[in-house]
Amino acid sequence: MANRVYNFNPGPSTLPLKVLQTIQEELLDYRGTGMSVMEISHRSQEYDEINNQAIALVKNLMGLGDNYHVIFVGGGASTQFAHIPLNFLPKDKTAAYVDTGTWSTKAIMEAKNLGNVHLSASSKDEGYTYVPLGNEIDYPNDSAYLHLTSNNTIKGTQYHEFPDSGNVPLICDMSSDILSHQVDFNQFAMFYAGAQKNLGPSGVTLVVIRDDMLGEINEGLPTIFDYRTHIEKKSLFNTPPSFIIYVVKLILEWIQDQGGLKAVEDNNRKKKDAIYSLIDANPDYFSAPVRENSRSWMNIVLRLSSEDLEKKFISEAKAEGLFGLKGHRSVGGIRVSLYNAMTLEGAEKVAEFMENFRTNN
Ligand SMILES: Cc1ncc(COP(=O)(O)O)c(C=O)c1O
Repeated sequence: MANRVYNFNPGPSTLPLKVLQTIQEELLDYRGTGMSVMEISHRSQEYDEINNQAIALVKNLMGLGDNYHVIFVGGGASTQFAHIPLNFLPKDKTAAYVDTGTWSTKAIMEAKNLGNVHLSASSKDEGYTYVPLGNEIDYPNDSAYLHLTSNNTIKGTQYHEFPDSGNVPLICDMSSDILSHQVDFNQFAMFYAGAQKNLGPSGVTLVVIRDDMLGEINEGLPTIFDYRTHIEKKSLFNTPPSFIIYVVKLILEWIQDQGGLKAVEDNNRKKKDAIYSLIDANPDYFSAPVRENSRSWMNIVLRLSSEDLEKKFISEAKAEGLFGLKGHRSVGGIRVSLYNAMTLEGAEKVAEFMENFRTNN
């Protein structure tokens, strides 16, 4: 499409062109109903099918059985920061958290508002440039749960393997790398992701909870804050963001059509290699602050020798149709977000631009 740019925005972010085209085709008349999905009741047969298919696709792509519940809720991933301790942290227990920067720090703050928190590990000492692993993470054996953030969108770090938390339920914020590579999802008691990076537009959060966790939920919660409400009503306790969930379903189908997580992972590996290999070949020019074993495949953070040069990089890239490369305001620099919908061609274009920029500057 002539007037579409390569969009490296960190979220909301680029969506697959094919999915956008399907939305366009179905926008005014969804499959012969004479209505848009936006105009259809969430209690209709059409929406019921969308909802059921989205749930089935999540389970299928992730290899999850009947012991997992899939719900779609509003409020963004940030709402889960509060819902998790509300539901799973009883007064007489402690929740363990790993602090890997911004989003996990916010999750910890919310949990502290509601109960006892044990800081299991933190990479704050090194500016959050790595993710603590293995025995760097400590937690009481009777912790209510251990919470991690799989990919740190702002700092550009990512867990490539998860700690074995034994009997302690492992809970993970996967907002910025969900469905981007193969993971054994069965190791988690719960995980969640705001849709607006790999799953669709903003407006819905995917939450997946293992069945045995339902027995751990604190009693006496307001109905809408109790996860069981949404599980029992299949995310239809109140009006869900139905149009967004329809788009999520289309994205899930798009992932499946490519060959599932194996194919997505293969493509994402090539994408990140195109950029990290250039950084590694020119370490005096491009500096990557993140430790090599913690590098994110989704958000590549890099710095140039001065802020002026970074500004020039970002504006020249934009002029060439490479959009959204500015680092988060809290860290500065450059950030290349390579979510699933970014093509290999897009990643290669950035690499080519970086190489030319280096030669010319
Ligand atoms: C890892 C991570 N967790 C949580 C959030 C917050 O998500 P939301 O804006 O949906 O509340 C973000 C947003 O970028 C994120 O990247």
